[in-house]
Amino acid sequence: MSSNSTIRSICCIGAGYVGGPTMAVIADRCPDVKVTVVDINQDRIAAWNHPDLSKLPVYEPGLDAVVERARGRNLFFSTAVEETIASADMVFISVNTPTKTRGLGAGQASDLRWVEACARTVAKEATGHTIVVEKSTLPVRTAEAVKAILGSVDSSSEQKTFSVLSNPEFLAEGTAIRDLANPDRVLIGGENAEAIDALAEIYQQWVPEEKILRTNLWSSELSKLTANAFLAQRISSINSVAALCEATGADVREVAKAIGTDSRIGPKFLNAGPGFGGSCFQKDILNLVYLCRHFGLPDVADYWESVVLLNTWQQHRIARLVVQKLFGTVTGKRLAILGFAFKADTNDTREAPAIRICKDLLEEGAQLAIHDPKVDPEQISRDLNLIASQAPEEDAGPTRGALSGEATWWPSPDVASAIRGADAVLILTEWQQYRELDWTTLAPLMRKPAWVFDARGVVDPKQVESGGLNVWRVGEGDA
Ligand code: UDX
Ligand code: ADP
Repeated sequence: MSSNSTIRSICCIGAGYVGGPTMAVIADRCPDVKVTVVDINQDRIAAWNHPDLSKLPVYEPGLDAVVERARGRNLFFSTAVEETIASADMVFISVNTPTKTRGLGAGQASDLRWVEACARTVAKEATGHTIVVEKSTLPVRTAEAVKAILGSVDSSSEQKTFSVLSNPEFLAEGTAIRDLANPDRVLIGGENAEAIDALAEIYQQWVPEEKILRTNLWSSELSKLTANAFLAQRISSINSVAALCEATGADVREVAKAIGTDSRIGPKFLNAGPGFGGSCFQKDILNLVYLCRHFGLPDVADYWESVVLLNTWQQHRIARLVVQKLFGTVTGKRLAILGFAFKADTNDTREAPAIRICKDLLEEGAQLAIHDPKVDPEQISRDLNLIASQAPEEDAGPTRGALSGEATWWPSPDVASAIRGADAVLILTEWQQYRELDWTTLAPLMRKPAWVFDARGVVDPKQVESGGLNVWRVGEGDA
């Protein structure tokens, strides 16, 4: 950071998937700025401070190296929320904003209670002039609420002033460090040019000036929701076409390639799969839907809502299809689930398609052996609302409980043990290791007739078939 920079000390509230990696990269690139990430969750902060970098609470390729360089130098993780705010020139709000589960807007609107709590703490603890940056994805016009809370402090006794900026984060999990180091754009929305410049100066340490876009507050907030809605819409579009491909004998990969070469469409985000997951897409679209209804635009709301409805349909469709192919019942049958994270290279399971698909299969009385290289089995228990059982003895037949339709699941330490004795394998996350499986050695472990349901299009169908297994691949019809 140049010595004449305005910002010397940054506080980020929220040490989650966004706050942690983003601040690590800022600290790494701006060694003269003190960056402290605070969180009320002591365990999280302890994990960020863990000497063993493989124990960081967020798994992101390259994150450990960035943290190793900056931690203890100008990057700190702390639970001292109030003190850190008091000494900061700039405060990022990077807390969770899940969809409301009850009350007004339940199921659609964002629950802003954590953002509001942060704004109140900042209003109370800040000193001098503080730039408050919204980093969490928020509904349009949230900045107004934040400003109102900040403006409600009695500043007659103390000199406190605030500027509010919106600086949404576009990083994707699994590629967070790459996305932060080389963003397509940095968006800064605000009204106060000096505050915008101060934040731009931070990014200018590694991002070219032309990639730093300045907008008004509302455009910035809305751009984030719109970007996610457009990306999610592409996935629902290709998944809708995948179903049609299966029905007509077309292959969705060929269709995606054919349309993706049109430079107006482009090749990215055209992979058909089990539907989108992750903490953002569904939440942001539902937020948009809620806003549209609020502003009297029900047709626009319905349009965007259909993107989420199709996504849910795709997940139920896959579970249904598995049951149908297995002679209409999976009661007491062992199914191997490969991949539980919502996509590869992350341990995050929020809104993972695996959750809905596994729940549907458990509802049918299935016995699920679940393997994922990064997801903690306790997280899977929480997501499925079902405690894991002991893995059955190798080669043991179905238990009495299994035959009477008692659904269970257990974590499998490796792919082979998940597959042993299974009637079907479902590939739900595109981990690299699942692309490299040797089906000639795996196939004999399964109970025949056996199926591989490849919801990510990662296996070579010929290799699977040569092992005597049946294959279903998303978006592939019988030609
Ligand atoms: C997304 C946005 O990409 C990011 O800009 C925003 O900041 C947060 O939300 P993320 O949720 O981390 O990031 O993952 P992303 O890579 O976008 O994938 C979202 C979901 O879509 C995953 O479940 C993924 O498997 C699925 N997906 C993605 C597809 O099914 N097909 C595709 O072609 C691409
Ligand atoms: P994201 O994916 O947006 O980063 P996460 O849920 O991973 O969201 O992280 C948000 C973090 O914010 C959590 O660790 C949570 O404990 C923290 N948090 C929420 N409210 C506050 C608050 N008022 N003060 C400090 N930390 C908070």
